[in-house]
Amino acid sequence: MPTVVSEITYEGQLAEKLALLKQQGNYRYFLPIKKSAHNHPTFDHITEGGKKTIVNWTSNDYLGMSVDTEVIAAFTDAAQQEGVGSGGTRNISGTTTQHRTLEKTIAQLHQKQTALLFTSAYVANSTAISTLARAFPNTLILSDEENHASMIEGVKLSRCEKRIFRHNDMAHLEFLLANTDFDRPKIILFESVYSMSGSIAPIESICELAKKYNALTYIDEVHGVGMYGAHGEGVTGEQNCLDKVDVINGTLAKSFGCVGGYVAANETIVDYIRSFGEGFIFTSSLPPALCAAATKSIEKVVENDRLRQHFHQNVKILRGSLLAENIAFEENASHITRIIIGDSKKTKEVTDRLFHDFGIYLQPINYPTVPKGREGLRIVVTARHTSAQIEHLAKALKRVL
Ligand SMILES: Cc1ncc(COP(=O)(O)O)c(C=O)c1O
Repeated sequence: MPTVVSEITYEGQLAEKLALLKQQGNYRYFLPIKKSAHNHPTFDHITEGGKKTIVNWTSNDYLGMSVDTEVIAAFTDAAQQEGVGSGGTRNISGTTTQHRTLEKTIAQLHQKQTALLFTSAYVANSTAISTLARAFPNTLILSDEENHASMIEGVKLSRCEKRIFRHNDMAHLEFLLANTDFDRPKIILFESVYSMSGSIAPIESICELAKKYNALTYIDEVHGVGMYGAHGEGVTGEQNCLDKVDVINGTLAKSFGCVGGYVAANETIVDYIRSFGEGFIFTSSLPPALCAAATKSIEKVVENDRLRQHFHQNVKILRGSLLAENIAFEENASHITRIIIGDSKKTKEVTDRLFHDFGIYLQPINYPTVPKGREGLRIVVTARHTSAQIEHLAKALKRVL
């Protein structure tokens, strides 16, 4: 018998798939940048040919807290005193006083009994959603069609039945709820500010439906905390729904300028996730210095409504400048400004030209982050962008588009 030698290698198959991804224009490129604590949101792009200063229009460090001097001082002071890593999982010497203080600060922000930290909001979503859904017999998950990948991961991990409702469509959500047994456990998953389209959820209506049909509510406030509500408590606070939503998820990595995620809820829900959530239990806890920095950042953001107003003013200035240059963007009530190009290769050409000819950094937003045909630019103006930078962006976009 002749030996059969397979022509197909493991590496060959991977390379083929990667080549296809590139051919489709969906390959992700990772740009190394040298971030600046002094000139944020500009950064240096260093190549063999030298250094180029670029304005960043993609950062979710919305309020510039990653470079706030007091936040940096809180971080370095705590690192000097407590070292870098926590050295343990939360249950095995990884719960420091800094973790406790931060959890209390987060609970206060959302007016919930308590909060629980995770290494990211992604892990918080996947762990909290899967753990909660598995806690009840035969849970049905109702999930908005635009929910983030981390929530979808939580749904998958739960192995529970799911129904997807059309984006922000209350009639569809009610139809699905009304056709489910009243006593069957149900969890409604949604976001406050949808990260790609920038649309905002009708939180009160969702909570009313949840009450009527006996469901739990779980909101992702990752793009809402810090920027919405009188104290940065998010859109849930702005819509007076803090006591109506059962679980609030948030991040420390965007408007608070650090890293890490959390859920805030009542004692029992949090205790359950803390006791059964694998993504919480079996991983090292956040560095104590990071917790100190995040606590300082939240305290400052809570007090600084002027910073929030300045941020939203910048969003208005950006949109005004785009209108003045006749550049079409999608209308929404949030801070995320999206220009649809509708083709991944063209989007990449646009961002390449902006980068090389104008010193502007925008990342193409492609499938699967957005559906095919919805590829384009997602512009994020921060509280630190100047009017001159905004004007320069609008004029450059006009030329390139
Ligand atoms: C809506 C939404 N939820 C969750 C996350 C995850 O947040 P983190 O970066 O803290 O993991 C993101 C990240 O971009 C997001 O956009």
